[in-house]
Amino acid sequence: MDKINVLYSEEEIDKRVRELADILNKEYGDEEVVFVCTLKGAVFFACDLLKRFKGDGRLEFLRVSSYEGESSTGKINLKMPLDAEKINGKHVVIVEDIVDTGYTLEYIVKYVNDMHPKSLVTCTLLDKKARRVVDINPTYSGFVIEDLFVVGYGLDYDQKYRNLPFIGVVVK
Ligand code: IMP
Ligand code: MG
Repeated sequence: MDKINVLYSEEEIDKRVRELADILNKEYGDEEVVFVCTLKGAVFFACDLLKRFKGDGRLEFLRVSSYEGESSTGKINLKMPLDAEKINGKHVVIVEDIVDTGYTLEYIVKYVNDMHPKSLVTCTLLDKKARRVVDINPTYSGFVIEDLFVVGYGLDYDQKYRNLPFIGVVVK
């Protein structure tokens, strides 16, 4: 087992997720909102966000892949599509775990926009702003982080460490 340093504790994540949910609650009130969770990394975040959402929250899943090991390949593969009927004419919040180069978010935004939602915003837990290659910024983000490879709370390193309740950095 590698040594992992805590970057954000369970309590810090919980506090920030509640703040983000409050923003969405103010924005949408009791309207119907489709949360599109990108698998697998965003699954813990999407569930916690949805639990705090007070409107008519719906949940859909999408799976794309771009990462191999610790580096983004830039080539996005759609592994599990969305049902366009669930998106068309709806308020949509794309929920991401982390935005790094931005290739994945750019791909997903275009993919969802082509299904003609009523409105579309993006909400990421983590934003590695300094690593951005594509000119795209999430509408909402939990924490802006440095160029560190993080794991836990859904995020993996070659499928490991998703189950950690905190976000941490693997010590090499
Ligand atoms: P992007 O296309 O380079 O922005 O990469 C975004 C995707 O890469 C995220 O949705 C994550 O699945 C993965 N990713 C990027 N950085 C990390 C990290 O530090 N830890 C784990 N996964 C990461
Ligand atoms: Mg992801």
